[in-house]
Amino acid sequence: MVLPRAAKGCNHLIDQTVTILGIESSCDDTAAAVVRGVVGVGGGAILSNVVARQESLHAPFGGVVPEIAARAHAERLDVCVMQALDEAGVPLADIDAISVTSGPGLIGGVLSGVMCAKGLAAPTSKPLIGINHLAGHALTPRLTDGVKFPYLMLLVSGGHCQFIAVEGPDDFRRMGGTIDDAPGEAFDKTAKLLGLGYPGGPAVEREARNGDPTRFKLPRPLLDRKNCDMSFSGLKTALRRKRDRLMAEHGGLQRQDRADMCAGFQQAIADVLTKKSHRACTFFKETYAMNGAVIAVAGGVAANALIRGQLTDMAHDQGFKFLAPPLSLCTDNAAMIAWAGLEKMSLPGFDPHAEIIARPRWPLDKTAAPMLGSGKKGAKA
Ligand code: KG4
Ligand code: ZN
Repeated sequence: MVLPRAAKGCNHLIDQTVTILGIESSCDDTAAAVVRGVVGVGGGAILSNVVARQESLHAPFGGVVPEIAARAHAERLDVCVMQALDEAGVPLADIDAISVTSGPGLIGGVLSGVMCAKGLAAPTSKPLIGINHLAGHALTPRLTDGVKFPYLMLLVSGGHCQFIAVEGPDDFRRMGGTIDDAPGEAFDKTAKLLGLGYPGGPAVEREARNGDPTRFKLPRPLLDRKNCDMSFSGLKTALRRKRDRLMAEHGGLQRQDRADMCAGFQQAIADVLTKKSHRACTFFKETYAMNGAVIAVAGGVAANALIRGQLTDMAHDQGFKFLAPPLSLCTDNAAMIAWAGLEKMSLPGFDPHAEIIARPRWPLDKTAAPMLGSGKKGAKA
């Protein structure tokens, strides 16, 4: 299909069925996927969704090493793309457009993905669509459940934590977020502190099953502030102090100490996310005055059973429908990037041949003030 540049104010692509190849490489997962859907209509078909994880490469370092990630992406991208096309049973010739994460993220990885996508698009003259990785997460409930705009999204991963009111394919309002660490990062650092493996979230959750969440009193930062902002770095420091005191007193940590610390830490994160989500739901109801609103979650931390459980109850209390996409679509993947490309095609004035550049920082809500903790290069998100 030849995609013309849409004239201002109208879009001939609306209601057309398109097949999109998505590419994702902004952090530590190399991913490619093929998604089919109707432009302007919620709900898509995932024809393939390939993810090559890099956990084992980063595990010895207790966190993602950007140089290792970039090299692994460069080595694996073409294999993932070929596998995605193969599994979907769609040759490259039948792909209508290529959609790629062009930020925010680790710049080496983002560049690898963008170069791969350009390499595929240029010789075939296919449209190339640059996608904000966070928009991919934020639009996932449209792919999986065809949710109507507007809806509320809690994005909670290793690098991000924010409440977003999703008003349209390119219309996002940030309602609050972390002013320092992301919860996943805090889980990973806690796991490292207690000598558990990487990634930390699942390890801490496992350990917490046998723990007493009330033994160690940990702070719930910023709960008294009447907004949706959160802070997680103090929690980690408080836990370190408790660990150091136990080590000094007993010469080491017992298994039960570890379990109790994990349980206390997990409970503190769950409580902050639940309380702030409750507030975000209240603000959302006030702003959009709608009944039967949806709150959705995405990001690796949404895999945590305690957090999911508390959020489900909170949503019920608030009269919201709680939506958690399947785990494979909560964590980083390329199906969400392909889908976000399809959503972008519905915008008036959509240009299928717009130049795309790799951006390490790219806030989703262009109107919101940067959160505290954003560096000299600008707001991370
Ligand atoms: O969304 P994701 O796969 O990647 C990005 O950060 O973009 O999220 C990974 C994060 C890691 O920090 C990991 O420790 C955390 O999600 N995580 C969890 C759980 N599973 C993964 N955190 C808490 N509980 C879990 N079960
Ligand atoms: Zn992500």
